Amino acid sequence: MKAKGAVAAVAKPALLGGKAVRKDGWPGWPVFDEKDEQAIVRVLRSGQWFRGYGKHVDRFEEAYAQLMGAKYCVATANGTSSLVAALAGAGVQAGDEVILPPYTFVACVNAVLVLDALPVFVDTDRATFQIDAKKIEAAITEHTRAIMPVHLGGNVVDLETVLSVAGKHKVPVIEDCCQAHMAEWKGKRVGIHGTAGCFSFQASKNLNSGEGGAILTNDEGMVERCHAAHTNGRTRKAGWSAESARAWNFRMTEFQAGLLMTQMGRLEEQSRVREENAKYLSKMLRAIPGIRPAEMYEGCTRNAYHLYMFRYEKERFGGLGRGRFLQALSAEGIGAGGGYTPLNKEAFIMNTLRSRGFGVVYSRSRIGEWEKRNRCPENDRLCEEGVWLTQNMLLGPRRDMEQIAEAVGKIAGYAGELGRG
Ligand SMILES: Cc1ncc(COP(=O)(O)O)c(C=O)c1O
Repeated sequence: MKAKGAVAAVAKPALLGGKAVRKDGWPGWPVFDEKDEQAIVRVLRSGQWFRGYGKHVDRFEEAYAQLMGAKYCVATANGTSSLVAALAGAGVQAGDEVILPPYTFVACVNAVLVLDALPVFVDTDRATFQIDAKKIEAAITEHTRAIMPVHLGGNVVDLETVLSVAGKHKVPVIEDCCQAHMAEWKGKRVGIHGTAGCFSFQASKNLNSGEGGAILTNDEGMVERCHAAHTNGRTRKAGWSAESARAWNFRMTEFQAGLLMTQMGRLEEQSRVREENAKYLSKMLRAIPGIRPAEMYEGCTRNAYHLYMFRYEKERFGGLGRGRFLQALSAEGIGAGGGYTPLNKEAFIMNTLRSRGFGVVYSRSRIGEWEKRNRCPENDRLCEEGVWLTQNMLLGPRRDMEQIAEAVGKIAGYAGELGRG
Protein backbone atom coordinates (compact mmCIF):
# COMPACT_ATOMS: atom_id res chain seq x y z
CA MET A 1 0.00 0.00 0.00
CA LYS A 2 1.09 3.53 -0.81
CA ALA A 3 1.36 5.98 2.05
CA LYS A 4 -1.59 8.36 2.28
CA GLY A 5 -1.54 12.00 1.17
CA ALA A 6 1.35 13.76 -0.59
CA VAL A 7 2.55 10.74 -2.54
CA ALA A 8 -0.83 9.74 -3.97
CA ALA A 9 0.13 10.71 -7.56
CA VAL A 10 3.47 8.90 -7.58
CA ALA A 11 3.78 6.05 -10.08
CA LYS A 12 4.78 2.59 -8.92
CA PRO A 13 8.55 1.92 -8.92
CA ALA A 14 9.91 -0.47 -11.56
CA LEU A 15 11.22 -2.72 -8.79
CA LEU A 16 7.61 -3.25 -7.66
CA GLY A 17 6.35 -4.00 -11.17
CA GLY A 18 5.80 -0.42 -12.43
CA LYS A 19 7.15 1.10 -15.64
CA ALA A 20 10.78 2.29 -15.57
CA VAL A 21 11.23 6.05 -15.83
CA ARG A 22 13.99 5.71 -18.41
CA LYS A 23 14.92 3.24 -21.13
CA ASP A 24 17.51 5.26 -23.06
CA GLY A 25 21.24 5.16 -22.39
CA TRP A 26 23.21 8.18 -21.18
CA PRO A 27 25.42 10.49 -23.21
CA GLY A 28 28.47 8.50 -24.26
CA TRP A 29 31.97 9.10 -22.92
CA PRO A 30 34.53 9.83 -24.31
CA VAL A 31 33.36 12.38 -26.87
CA PHE A 32 35.46 12.48 -30.06
CA ASP A 33 35.30 13.11 -33.77
CA GLU A 34 37.59 13.31 -36.80
CA LYS A 35 39.58 16.18 -35.23
CA ASP A 36 40.74 13.84 -32.46
CA GLU A 37 41.43 11.15 -35.03
CA GLN A 38 43.56 13.53 -37.08
CA ALA A 39 45.46 14.63 -33.98
CA ILE A 40 46.46 11.04 -33.22
CA VAL A 41 47.31 10.28 -36.84
CA ARG A 42 49.45 13.44 -37.05
CA VAL A 43 51.60 12.26 -34.15
CA LEU A 44 51.73 8.74 -35.54
CA ARG A 45 52.91 9.88 -38.97
CA SER A 46 55.46 12.29 -37.53
CA GLY A 47 57.29 9.32 -36.03
CA GLN A 48 58.10 11.56 -33.06
CA TRP A 49 56.25 9.90 -30.24
CA PHE A 50 58.47 11.00 -27.35
CA ARG A 51 58.43 14.53 -25.90
CA GLY A 52 62.15 14.85 -26.39
CA TYR A 53 61.64 14.60 -30.19
CA GLY A 54 58.26 16.24 -30.79
CA LYS A 55 56.59 19.48 -29.76
CA HIS A 56 53.07 18.36 -28.75
CA VAL A 57 53.77 17.99 -25.03
CA ASP A 58 55.47 21.41 -24.93
CA ARG A 59 52.47 22.94 -26.69
CA PHE A 60 50.01 21.25 -24.39
CA GLU A 61 51.88 22.48 -21.30
CA GLU A 62 51.69 26.02 -22.60
CA ALA A 63 48.00 25.80 -23.55
CA TYR A 64 46.93 24.12 -20.30
CA ALA A 65 48.83 26.63 -18.16
CA GLN A 66 47.14 29.44 -20.08
CA LEU A 67 43.66 27.94 -19.80
CA MET A 68 44.06 27.42 -16.06
CA GLY A 69 45.72 30.77 -15.37
CA ALA A 70 49.03 29.28 -14.21
CA LYS A 71 52.55 30.39 -15.03
CA TYR A 72 53.91 26.88 -15.48
CA CYS A 73 52.74 23.38 -16.32
CA VAL A 74 54.53 20.03 -16.29
CA ALA A 75 52.66 17.32 -18.20
CA THR A 76 52.92 13.84 -16.69
CA ALA A 77 52.01 10.24 -17.47
CA ASN A 78 48.98 10.28 -15.13
CA GLY A 79 47.49 11.98 -12.08
CA THR A 80 49.21 9.71 -9.58
CA SER A 81 52.66 10.57 -10.93
CA SER A 82 51.76 14.27 -10.87
CA LEU A 83 51.00 13.95 -7.14
CA VAL A 84 54.22 12.05 -6.45
CA ALA A 85 56.34 14.56 -8.37
CA ALA A 86 54.60 17.57 -6.76
CA LEU A 87 54.94 16.16 -3.24
CA ALA A 88 58.60 15.38 -3.93
CA GLY A 89 58.98 18.89 -5.37
CA ALA A 90 57.53 20.28 -2.14
CA GLY A 91 60.25 18.40 -0.26
CA VAL A 92 58.28 15.45 1.11
CA GLN A 93 60.58 12.65 2.22
CA ALA A 94 60.66 9.61 4.48
CA GLY A 95 59.74 10.65 8.02
CA ASP A 96 57.45 13.50 6.96
CA GLU A 97 53.68 13.73 7.36
CA VAL A 98 51.21 14.73 4.65
CA ILE A 99 47.66 15.78 5.53
CA LEU A 100 44.90 14.50 3.24
CA PRO A 101 41.21 13.58 3.28
CA PRO A 102 39.91 10.03 3.78
CA TYR A 103 37.10 10.53 1.24
CA THR A 104 39.13 10.16 -1.93
CA PHE A 105 40.69 7.78 -4.44
CA VAL A 106 43.39 5.37 -3.29
CA ALA A 107 46.02 7.06 -5.50
CA CYS A 108 46.15 9.99 -3.06
CA VAL A 109 47.36 7.91 -0.14
CA ASN A 110 49.66 5.88 -2.37
CA ALA A 111 51.37 9.05 -3.59
CA VAL A 112 52.28 9.72 0.05
CA LEU A 113 53.25 6.14 0.89
CA VAL A 114 55.56 5.65 -2.12
CA LEU A 115 57.59 8.58 -0.77
CA ASP A 116 57.79 6.69 2.55
CA ALA A 117 55.88 9.52 4.23
CA LEU A 118 53.03 9.17 6.71
CA PRO A 119 49.50 9.95 5.50
CA VAL A 120 47.55 11.88 8.15
CA PHE A 121 43.80 11.78 7.54
CA VAL A 122 41.62 14.72 8.50
CA ASP A 123 37.89 14.03 8.78
CA THR A 124 35.33 15.01 6.14
CA ASP A 125 32.71 17.74 6.15
CA ARG A 126 29.73 15.59 5.24
CA ALA A 127 27.72 18.53 3.89
CA THR A 128 30.24 19.18 1.08
CA PHE A 129 32.00 15.77 0.81
CA GLN A 130 35.32 17.69 1.20
CA ILE A 131 38.07 17.67 3.81
CA ASP A 132 36.90 19.54 6.92
CA ALA A 133 39.39 22.40 6.67
CA LYS A 134 38.61 23.56 10.21
CA LYS A 135 40.10 20.34 11.55
CA ILE A 136 43.42 20.62 9.68
CA GLU A 137 45.25 22.77 12.20
CA ALA A 138 44.82 20.21 14.99
CA ALA A 139 46.50 17.60 12.75
CA ILE A 140 49.64 19.67 12.10
CA THR A 141 52.80 18.51 13.88
CA GLU A 142 56.49 19.33 13.61
CA HIS A 143 56.66 16.62 10.92
CA THR A 144 53.94 18.02 8.63
CA ARG A 145 55.55 18.70 5.26
CA ALA A 146 52.51 19.20 3.00
CA ILE A 147 48.74 19.58 3.02
CA MET A 148 47.05 17.83 0.11
CA PRO A 149 43.38 18.85 -0.10
CA VAL A 150 41.36 17.07 -2.80
CA HIS A 151 38.65 18.93 -4.74
CA LEU A 152 36.46 15.88 -4.65
CA GLY A 153 33.93 15.32 -7.39
CA GLY A 154 34.77 18.70 -8.93
CA ASN A 155 33.47 20.56 -5.87
CA VAL A 156 36.02 22.85 -4.18
CA VAL A 157 37.45 22.54 -0.66
CA ASP A 158 37.33 25.50 1.74
CA LEU A 159 40.54 26.92 0.32
CA GLU A 160 40.40 30.06 2.43
CA THR A 161 40.77 28.05 5.63
CA VAL A 162 43.31 25.63 4.09
CA LEU A 163 45.52 28.44 2.83
CA SER A 164 45.34 30.41 6.05
CA VAL A 165 46.34 27.41 8.21
CA ALA A 166 49.07 26.47 5.72
CA GLY A 167 50.39 30.02 5.67
CA LYS A 168 50.42 30.24 9.47
CA HIS A 169 52.44 27.02 9.75
CA LYS A 170 54.48 27.56 6.57
CA VAL A 171 53.40 24.25 5.04
CA PRO A 172 53.09 23.88 1.23
CA VAL A 173 49.63 23.10 -0.20
CA ILE A 174 49.41 20.62 -3.07
CA GLU A 175 45.88 20.79 -4.49
CA ASP A 176 44.63 17.49 -5.89
CA CYS A 177 42.50 18.70 -8.81
CA CYS A 178 42.32 15.31 -10.52
CA GLN A 179 38.51 15.53 -10.50
CA ALA A 180 38.20 19.30 -10.78
CA HIS A 181 39.27 20.65 -14.20
CA MET A 182 37.78 24.16 -14.61
CA ALA A 183 36.47 24.37 -11.04
CA GLU A 184 37.03 27.78 -9.47
CA TRP A 185 37.60 29.34 -6.09
CA LYS A 186 36.69 33.04 -5.95
CA GLY A 187 36.82 33.30 -9.73
CA LYS A 188 40.24 31.65 -10.15
CA ARG A 189 40.67 28.10 -11.36
CA VAL A 190 41.72 25.48 -8.84
CA GLY A 191 45.32 24.27 -9.01
CA ILE A 192 46.96 27.68 -8.69
CA HIS A 193 46.00 28.63 -5.14
CA GLY A 194 48.69 26.71 -3.28
CA THR A 195 52.24 25.66 -4.13
CA ALA A 196 51.06 23.37 -6.95
CA GLY A 197 47.95 21.69 -8.36
CA CYS A 198 47.76 18.19 -9.83
CA PHE A 199 45.42 16.93 -12.55
CA SER A 200 44.46 13.57 -14.06
CA PHE A 201 43.39 12.94 -17.65
CA GLN A 202 42.50 9.30 -17.04
CA ALA A 203 39.60 7.93 -19.11
CA SER A 204 36.75 8.80 -16.70
CA LYS A 205 37.94 12.38 -16.11
CA ASN A 206 36.32 15.53 -17.52
CA LEU A 207 39.43 16.00 -19.67
CA ASN A 208 40.49 12.64 -21.06
CA SER A 209 43.41 11.15 -22.96
CA GLY A 210 43.04 7.61 -21.61
CA GLU A 211 45.85 8.29 -19.13
CA GLY A 212 47.65 11.54 -18.45
CA GLY A 213 48.33 14.17 -15.86
CA ALA A 214 49.67 17.66 -15.22
CA ILE A 215 51.16 19.80 -12.48
CA LEU A 216 50.47 23.53 -12.38
CA THR A 217 52.45 26.03 -10.37
CA ASN A 218 53.32 29.71 -10.31
CA ASP A 219 56.60 29.06 -8.51
CA GLU A 220 59.76 28.93 -10.60
CA GLY A 221 61.68 26.77 -8.17
CA MET A 222 58.76 24.36 -7.90
CA VAL A 223 58.39 23.93 -11.67
CA GLU A 224 62.10 23.11 -11.95
CA ARG A 225 61.88 20.55 -9.15
CA CYS A 226 58.71 18.96 -10.58
CA HIS A 227 60.13 18.89 -14.08
CA ALA A 228 63.30 17.24 -12.81
CA ALA A 229 61.29 14.76 -10.73
CA HIS A 230 59.27 13.74 -13.82
CA THR A 231 62.22 13.23 -16.18
CA ASN A 232 65.14 11.48 -14.53
CA GLY A 233 66.35 14.52 -12.62
CA ARG A 234 66.93 16.78 -15.61
CA THR A 235 65.84 20.38 -15.07
CA ARG A 236 64.00 22.38 -17.74
CA LYS A 237 66.82 24.86 -18.02
CA ALA A 238 69.66 22.38 -18.31
CA GLY A 239 67.76 19.91 -20.53
CA TRP A 240 69.02 16.48 -21.55
CA SER A 241 72.69 17.31 -21.10
CA ALA A 242 72.27 17.96 -17.39
CA GLU A 243 73.37 15.62 -14.66
CA SER A 244 70.75 13.35 -13.21
CA ALA A 245 69.27 13.41 -9.74
CA ARG A 246 67.11 10.89 -7.91
CA ALA A 247 63.87 10.98 -9.87
CA TRP A 248 61.44 9.07 -12.10
CA ASN A 249 60.32 8.89 -15.68
CA PHE A 250 56.76 10.26 -15.47
CA ARG A 251 56.73 11.77 -18.96
CA MET A 252 53.62 12.21 -21.10
CA THR A 253 53.76 10.85 -24.65
CA GLU A 254 53.23 12.97 -27.75
CA PHE A 255 50.05 10.98 -28.48
CA GLN A 256 48.48 11.93 -25.16
CA ALA A 257 49.33 15.60 -25.69
CA GLY A 258 48.02 15.63 -29.28
CA LEU A 259 44.69 14.19 -28.14
CA LEU A 260 44.45 16.53 -25.15
CA MET A 261 44.76 19.56 -27.42
CA THR A 262 41.59 18.61 -29.31
CA GLN A 263 39.76 17.33 -26.23
CA MET A 264 40.51 20.60 -24.46
CA GLY A 265 38.52 22.44 -27.12
CA ARG A 266 35.32 20.90 -25.72
CA LEU A 267 36.05 21.42 -22.03
CA GLU A 268 34.43 24.84 -21.52
CA GLU A 269 31.16 23.92 -23.23
CA GLN A 270 30.93 20.52 -21.51
CA SER A 271 31.64 22.16 -18.14
CA ARG A 272 28.88 24.70 -18.75
CA VAL A 273 26.33 22.00 -19.62
CA ARG A 274 27.25 19.89 -16.57
CA GLU A 275 26.96 22.84 -14.24
CA GLU A 276 23.59 23.98 -15.61
CA ASN A 277 22.13 20.49 -15.44
CA ALA A 278 23.54 19.91 -11.96
CA LYS A 279 21.97 23.12 -10.65
CA TYR A 280 18.62 22.13 -12.12
CA LEU A 281 18.87 18.64 -10.66
CA SER A 282 19.82 19.98 -7.21
CA LYS A 283 16.79 22.23 -7.16
CA MET A 284 14.51 19.24 -7.78
CA LEU A 285 16.31 16.83 -5.45
CA ARG A 286 16.42 19.29 -2.56
CA ALA A 287 12.63 19.20 -2.53
CA ILE A 288 12.70 15.48 -1.65
CA PRO A 289 13.12 14.95 2.12
CA GLY A 290 16.16 12.76 2.81
CA ILE A 291 18.09 13.74 -0.35
CA ARG A 292 20.87 16.21 0.29
CA PRO A 293 22.93 17.34 -2.72
CA ALA A 294 26.55 18.17 -1.83
CA GLU A 295 26.75 21.76 -0.65
CA MET A 296 29.39 24.23 -1.81
CA TYR A 297 31.45 26.68 0.22
CA GLU A 298 30.80 30.32 -0.49
CA GLY A 299 34.11 30.76 -2.29
CA CYS A 300 33.33 28.03 -4.83
CA THR A 301 32.38 30.05 -7.90
CA ARG A 302 32.42 27.08 -10.27
CA ASN A 303 31.88 23.38 -9.61
CA ALA A 304 33.35 21.01 -12.23
CA TYR A 305 30.85 18.23 -11.39
CA HIS A 306 33.10 15.31 -12.18
CA LEU A 307 30.58 13.55 -9.96
CA TYR A 308 27.09 14.55 -8.98
CA MET A 309 27.06 13.66 -5.27
CA PHE A 310 24.26 13.60 -2.76
CA ARG A 311 23.63 12.14 0.66
CA TYR A 312 20.86 9.63 1.07
CA GLU A 313 19.32 9.69 4.54
CA LYS A 314 17.63 6.35 4.92
CA GLU A 315 15.78 7.45 8.07
CA ARG A 316 13.77 9.81 5.86
CA PHE A 317 13.01 6.88 3.53
CA GLY A 318 11.45 4.74 6.26
CA GLY A 319 14.77 2.97 6.92
CA LEU A 320 15.15 1.77 3.29
CA GLY A 321 18.84 0.80 3.03
CA ARG A 322 21.11 2.56 0.54
CA GLY A 323 21.78 -0.70 -1.32
CA ARG A 324 18.06 -1.22 -1.93
CA PHE A 325 17.65 2.46 -2.88
CA LEU A 326 20.40 2.09 -5.51
CA GLN A 327 18.80 -1.11 -6.76
CA ALA A 328 15.44 0.63 -7.15
CA LEU A 329 17.12 3.56 -8.92
CA SER A 330 18.85 1.18 -11.31
CA ALA A 331 15.52 -0.53 -12.08
CA GLU A 332 14.23 2.94 -13.12
CA GLY A 333 17.10 3.17 -15.64
CA ILE A 334 19.25 5.44 -13.45
CA GLY A 335 22.55 3.73 -12.64
CA ALA A 336 24.18 5.28 -9.58
CA GLY A 337 26.96 4.20 -7.19
CA GLY A 338 27.56 4.36 -3.46
CA GLY A 339 30.96 6.07 -3.75
CA TYR A 340 34.04 5.56 -1.61
CA THR A 341 34.60 3.32 1.37
CA PRO A 342 36.75 4.73 4.26
CA LEU A 343 40.26 5.02 2.81
CA ASN A 344 41.86 5.59 6.22
CA LYS A 345 40.73 2.10 7.29
CA GLU A 346 42.20 0.23 4.30
CA ALA A 347 44.24 -2.68 5.65
CA PHE A 348 47.08 -2.13 3.19
CA ILE A 349 47.89 1.21 4.83
CA MET A 350 48.48 -0.34 8.25
CA ASN A 351 50.42 -3.19 6.60
CA THR A 352 52.63 -0.62 4.89
CA LEU A 353 53.22 1.30 8.12
CA ARG A 354 54.21 -1.96 9.81
CA SER A 355 56.47 -3.01 6.92
CA ARG A 356 60.22 -3.53 7.32
CA GLY A 357 61.11 -0.36 5.38
CA PHE A 358 58.78 1.87 7.37
CA GLY A 359 60.14 0.27 10.55
CA VAL A 360 63.57 1.70 9.75
CA VAL A 361 62.14 5.24 9.53
CA TYR A 362 59.33 5.28 12.11
CA SER A 363 59.44 4.14 15.72
CA ARG A 364 56.75 1.77 17.01
CA SER A 365 55.43 4.48 19.28
CA ARG A 366 55.06 6.93 16.37
CA ILE A 367 53.04 4.38 14.37
CA GLY A 368 51.01 3.57 17.51
CA GLU A 369 50.29 7.28 17.92
CA TRP A 370 49.26 7.47 14.23
CA GLU A 371 46.84 4.59 14.78
CA LYS A 372 45.26 6.37 17.73
CA ARG A 373 44.83 9.61 15.75
CA ASN A 374 43.39 7.86 12.70
CA ARG A 375 39.69 8.42 13.47
CA CYS A 376 37.27 9.97 10.94
CA PRO A 377 33.73 9.31 12.22
CA GLU A 378 32.03 11.84 9.94
CA ASN A 379 33.68 10.22 6.95
CA ASP A 380 32.60 6.75 8.11
CA ARG A 381 29.04 8.02 8.07
CA LEU A 382 29.38 9.71 4.70
CA CYS A 383 30.63 6.44 3.21
CA GLU A 384 27.29 4.91 4.22
CA GLU A 385 25.19 7.82 2.90
CA GLY A 386 26.92 8.90 -0.32
CA VAL A 387 25.37 8.44 -3.77
CA TRP A 388 27.15 9.33 -7.01
CA LEU A 389 26.10 9.93 -10.57
CA THR A 390 28.87 10.11 -13.17
CA GLN A 391 29.73 13.27 -15.11
CA ASN A 392 28.50 12.01 -18.50
CA MET A 393 24.96 11.76 -17.08
CA LEU A 394 25.01 15.56 -16.82
CA LEU A 395 25.83 16.09 -20.50
CA GLY A 396 22.36 15.51 -21.94
CA PRO A 397 19.14 17.56 -22.03
CA ARG A 398 17.26 18.89 -18.97
CA ARG A 399 14.75 16.09 -19.47
CA ASP A 400 17.41 13.65 -18.22
CA MET A 401 17.60 15.57 -14.93
CA GLU A 402 13.82 15.50 -14.61
CA GLN A 403 13.86 11.73 -15.04
CA ILE A 404 16.50 11.33 -12.31
CA ALA A 405 14.41 13.42 -9.91
CA GLU A 406 11.24 11.57 -10.93
CA ALA A 407 12.87 8.20 -10.22
CA VAL A 408 14.04 9.31 -6.77
CA GLY A 409 10.57 10.70 -6.08
CA LYS A 410 8.96 7.37 -6.98
CA ILE A 411 11.26 5.54 -4.58
CA ALA A 412 10.51 8.07 -1.84
CA GLY A 413 6.78 7.53 -2.35
CA TYR A 414 7.06 3.76 -2.06
CA ALA A 415 9.97 3.52 0.38
CA GLY A 416 7.97 1.47 2.88
CA GLU A 417 6.93 -1.15 0.34
CA LEU A 418 10.40 -1.30 -1.21
CA GLY A 419 11.83 -1.92 2.24
CA ARG A 420 9.55 -4.87 2.78
CA GLY A 421 10.22 -6.28 -0.72
C1 LIG B 1 41.15 12.47 -6.53
C2 LIG B 1 42.09 11.71 -7.40
N1 LIG B 1 43.43 11.79 -7.18
C3 LIG B 1 44.30 11.12 -7.93
C4 LIG B 1 43.90 10.32 -8.98
C5 LIG B 1 44.91 9.58 -9.76
O1 LIG B 1 44.90 9.88 -11.10
P1 LIG B 1 45.37 8.80 -12.20
O2 LIG B 1 44.35 7.72 -12.23
O3 LIG B 1 45.43 9.59 -13.46
O4 LIG B 1 46.70 8.31 -11.79
C6 LIG B 1 42.53 10.22 -9.26
C7 LIG B 1 42.01 9.48 -10.41
O5 LIG B 1 41.83 8.46 -10.70
C8 LIG B 1 41.60 10.90 -8.43
O6 LIG B 1 40.29 10.79 -8.64
